[in-house]
Amino acid sequence: MSDRFATMKQEILDGIEKHAASRAEAFELRKQFLDSKIGKISQMMKEMKNIAPEERAGFGKGVNELKEWAQQRFAELDEKMKARELKMRYEKEKIDVTMPAVEESCGNLHPITQMRNQIIDVFAGMGFEVFENREIENDYYNFTALNTPKDHPARDMQDTFYLSPEFLLATQTSAAQIHTMENKKPPIKILCPGKVFRSDDDATHSPMFHQMEGLVVDEKITLCDLKGMLDVFVQKIYGEGTTTRLRPSYFPFTEPSVEVDVSCFECGGKGCKLCKGTGWIEILGAGIVNKKVLENCGIDSEKYSGLAFGIGLERATMLKYGINNIKLLFESDLRVLKQINDN
Ligand code: PHE
Repeated sequence: MSDRFATMKQEILDGIEKHAASRAEAFELRKQFLDSKIGKISQMMKEMKNIAPEERAGFGKGVNELKEWAQQRFAELDEKMKARELKMRYEKEKIDVTMPAVEESCGNLHPITQMRNQIIDVFAGMGFEVFENREIENDYYNFTALNTPKDHPARDMQDTFYLSPEFLLATQTSAAQIHTMENKKPPIKILCPGKVFRSDDDATHSPMFHQMEGLVVDEKITLCDLKGMLDVFVQKIYGEGTTTRLRPSYFPFTEPSVEVDVSCFECGGKGCKLCKGTGWIEILGAGIVNKKVLENCGIDSEKYSGLAFGIGLERATMLKYGINNIKLLFESDLRVLKQINDN
């Protein structure tokens, strides 16, 4: 009898040695011996009735011992398999943190958009509100209300794309001054980015380009306020030591009008190729809002005064990154765009 128990034990040990390579296999093997219905040890229990009565107690004890022994072996086996499978999983999922990362390529904002956002940041910091400009204007907003009536020679300053005798593609963001002052009473402090269109096309001009209009209307606004704000603007965009200088100019909607130069941020004012040896670079047009324009919008020109400026975004961007042809900003050539990136 004890032979049968010993043989069964050996059978179990052999099974464990040969067949159990995973928890699933170990489970199947366990079933072969310990399953309550089909297991070989359970079957042995059922033989009890065939055993001679005097041997029954010994046999029962032997089977129970065998069962306990087998349960222990299979529990050990299960533990071993569990540990092995965990180890294999860790092996498989191991991450080498020293491996170089896979580089993700992702897009960038266009340089013009970056410049636009940077300028908005600067003026938003000074309390300006931002309004998007219109692309189609009528003659009144683009010219007449800006003190440029039909026969005014200043209309020739900008070659206009007419859509009809009355409607046109905005030639300047200055129409935003009128829209704002018609709808808002002072104090006014707004910034209006927008697309503008002129029949003009060469290395530094494109038929469509971007401008940013600034308008401040309040009591006692002077050219000093204009210069103060523009100094902050050029320092933030072109670097700490940069300053501005105002030169007399002419726009029908500002009086006095100025052309604003920025001190050359390339040579620090000594004179170089960028500033054509002068130490200064022309950057934008500005001025004190013409009283007639305030009055056209129903604003008391005795009580209030205003300043306005118009920044060309392509020009500001070309200067900042040393780009000599405006077409490079419109061709979407990634080799070029990758070189112009502040982020
Ligand atoms: N609108 C002018 C231009 O396009 C720029 C400008 C804006 C000048 C505001 C003065 C005041 O050239």
